[in-house]
Amino acid sequence: MGRTHYVREDSERILLDQETIMKRVAELAKQISADYENKNLVAVCILKGSVMFFSDLMKEVTIPCELEFMSVSSYGSGSSSSGNVKIKYDLQDDIRDKDILIVEDIVDSGITLHNLTNLLKQRNPASLKICCLLDKKERRVAEIDVDYVGFEIPDEFVIGYGLDFDGKYRNYGEIGILKRELYE
Ligand code: PRP
Repeated sequence: MGRTHYVREDSERILLDQETIMKRVAELAKQISADYENKNLVAVCILKGSVMFFSDLMKEVTIPCELEFMSVSSYGSGSSSSGNVKIKYDLQDDIRDKDILIVEDIVDSGITLHNLTNLLKQRNPASLKICCLLDKKERRVAEIDVDYVGFEIPDEFVIGYGLDFDGKYRNYGEIGILKRELYE
């Protein structure tokens, strides 16, 4: 008998369990597969947070596509947005005339996606859309249209399934709400 998973132990409660996430991921993948039929889909994983979501989502997409990766940052080690977006790892290929789908784990203030979409638009893709697993709508500062949303969630500190606090908690199949005493 070992301990239960540390992410679960450090969660006040589980917000989205694995079954709920996977069901919604499959629905999103089905819609994306239909919408991008006969297009040049390039799905872009925004590291690191969207790694689990991206992997599960793209396994369910049934049309030909390319998978690409980018790393941007808008946060320090604390829990609020700094308002700055820095490209840490850029796309390696030209996206001109490609149909780009940005895949993110969470949209919070919207600053990251606002700046990122402005940057990618300058590279002249055929189209540019956003798929986001979690949407904390009440925290929005920057205007941003999210085309595919997994779940709208309350303004809570979420961890697991790619989402971290100070680099930890990403490696869990469910999404929990971090116990307040661990970050306050
Ligand atoms: C998170 C998330 C988004 C961004 C959302 O990334 O993955 O990119 O913050 O916040 P915003 O809407 O307020 O801009 P983070 O910078 O924490 O990096 P990570 O994905 O590597 O954890």
